[in-house]
Amino acid sequence: MSETLAIVKGTRKEKYISLLPQLKSLIGDEVDATANAANISAALRKAFNFFWVGFYFVKSNELVLGPFQGEIACTRIQIGKGVCGTAWQQENTIIVADVDKFPGHIACSSNSRSEIVVPVFQNQKIVAVLDVDSDQLNDFSEVDKIYLEQITLLFSGSNFNF
Ligand code: SME
Repeated sequence: MSETLAIVKGTRKEKYISLLPQLKSLIGDEVDATANAANISAALRKAFNFFWVGFYFVKSNELVLGPFQGEIACTRIQIGKGVCGTAWQQENTIIVADVDKFPGHIACSSNSRSEIVVPVFQNQKIVAVLDVDSDQLNDFSEVDKIYLEQITLLFSGSNFNF
């Protein structure tokens, strides 16, 4: 397992392309979801300096805060609530260019301006969501969707083991 990240200079896409194999090797054969979620959050924060990166796990039909990097956050989100609960309900990645324009957005910090939430699937069921917040408006695009979805595939491929 590699314990240091080599972050290339370049576009966000180039950074994702360099990050993916490093995340794969960081996860290695580790099957603990908390450990992997913690390292993925730290790696994404380090690579892109995102305002907030973290996971919510589906537990007893709620999303419960898991490992994250950034400011303190709300601990529980119901299905259909906020961006996270909506992505869970719709079973789709959601990109929000301006969080103030998303009805029901849950503001954990007033500094968050845009957001992307990617569901984590295991055996066709959502077991978690990956939430990334930016302090810049309109900071996420199809590039983030493509690569963050690949990162969630790496993560769920690690077999959850709480
Ligand atoms: N904004 C999210 C809540 C989680 S925090 O951003 C960390 C939402 O609307 O679901």
